[in-house]
Amino acid sequence: MPSVYLQTFGCQMNAADSNGLAHQAWSMGCTFAAQPDEADIIIVNTCAIREKAELRVYGRLGQLKGIKERRPQAKLLVAGCLAEKDRAVMRAKAPHVDALLGPREYRRFKELLGSWGVPTDAPPPQTDFVMPSLEDDPGRDGAHEFAHLRALVNITRGCEKFCTYCIVPYTRGPLESIDPDEIESQVRREIRCGAREITLLGQNVNSYYWEEQRLDFADLLLRVGAIEGLERLTFLTSHPKDFNPRVVDALAQLRNVEPRMHLPVQCGSNRVLQTMARLYTIEEYLDKIAYFREHLPRWALTTDLIVGYPTESEADFLATLELVQRGTFEYAFIFAYSPRTGTPAATMDGQVPPQEKIRRLQAVNAAQNDVTRRFNESFLGECVRVLAQGPSKKDPSKMAGKTGHNTTVIYPRDDRTKSAPVVDVIAEQAFSWGLAGSVAEPAYV
Ligand code: SAH
Ligand code: SF4
Ligand code: F3S
Repeated sequence: MPSVYLQTFGCQMNAADSNGLAHQAWSMGCTFAAQPDEADIIIVNTCAIREKAELRVYGRLGQLKGIKERRPQAKLLVAGCLAEKDRAVMRAKAPHVDALLGPREYRRFKELLGSWGVPTDAPPPQTDFVMPSLEDDPGRDGAHEFAHLRALVNITRGCEKFCTYCIVPYTRGPLESIDPDEIESQVRREIRCGAREITLLGQNVNSYYWEEQRLDFADLLLRVGAIEGLERLTFLTSHPKDFNPRVVDALAQLRNVEPRMHLPVQCGSNRVLQTMARLYTIEEYLDKIAYFREHLPRWALTTDLIVGYPTESEADFLATLELVQRGTFEYAFIFAYSPRTGTPAATMDGQVPPQEKIRRLQAVNAAQNDVTRRFNESFLGECVRVLAQGPSKKDPSKMAGKTGHNTTVIYPRDDRTKSAPVVDVIAEQAFSWGLAGSVAEPAYV
């Protein structure tokens, strides 16, 4: 039977899609290879959100060229957002690619494998489906043993917000909500397969709406949160325009929801927010999070920020910096604006020079690191419950995992912890990247 190597770049949407592709390949009898050299079919699931993401993908495709030269019968499929965005130029940039499938074309995946000689009418496989690691380094030792603990469940597809900097609406198409019965049965299936944490996924989960049952995102949270056996529930990403207090009320009722929410603000200046077409002001954002803070104490609020958006002045930038310095967010992902061909911002006047973007990025990063470190320090001496991710990337003699706040925790790797999905750790050291500590006694494993 053919073997498949799958590498995933980009966000959790791509990870969820890769899981779906892997499942389809498995159902046709394919096995999985840890290295591309060993595979008959190589799939690279790609991202186009920023230039750096694209460069990584093209770098990887360049490396894979050697395999195609040595074994021309091996097939190379590029899936995901870059396949959609660069459809017209991929042939020139990476002529050794055999096929492209954008995020809205996965219905054609089985047919494509069929055209490459994989039997489409094979009996169901005798082996269990083992999810391949969905990280971008699939060969990493020991990590895939823990992959099934976390499951990603799409609740919407696409996005029609068209923020002026963003490529996603062009690569993933308009918003569609998924039938809640389908969502519920997928969550149940994932729990049966060992998932301890379920992440409900959408580019803007707050726009979820299922007309037939008049169900919005707050209702869906309550429905999914009530599923028996669900230990940890979380969701990504909220949009400040559509986020409403009913979601906070629903979260406050659930006992199994993880204490964190990702609500990307993008920047602290109203003028820039307006030109980004984000559809809220900073005052509206702060009002919404005041309600959130009041009803969900000690939650982690996380955000995304873009610096160096076209026309961003020093005063605009300082508004973002000040928002961060005030400790508004426990964690933030901070990006330098990257022009995306085809989006309105890419051709705007007033592009900020690269050096200046880097200066702003570093300043906001440094400010956020201070805030995050202080937040992590607030856990010192406490016992934190950690969902394991596997051996630490930096030091494989240790284990790494995440708390409900999504804080990284490093703890000793020993006979007891090396395969334990959940571990209680006493936090002994705090850094801006997370916590380090020892296993609590009596150990919860
Ligand atoms: N749907 C989510 C985010 C999707 S993309 C939302 O609306 O918040 C993830 C993050 O990438 C965005 O929040 C934004 O901060 C960043 N991003 C998107 N396009 C970008 C670009 N062209 N340059 C830099 N950062 C970008
Ligand atoms: Fe992109 Fe805006 Fe949609 Fe988020 S809401 S995916 S930033 S267009
Ligand atoms: Fe995700 Fe990258 Fe596409 S962030 S939606 S994989 S462009």
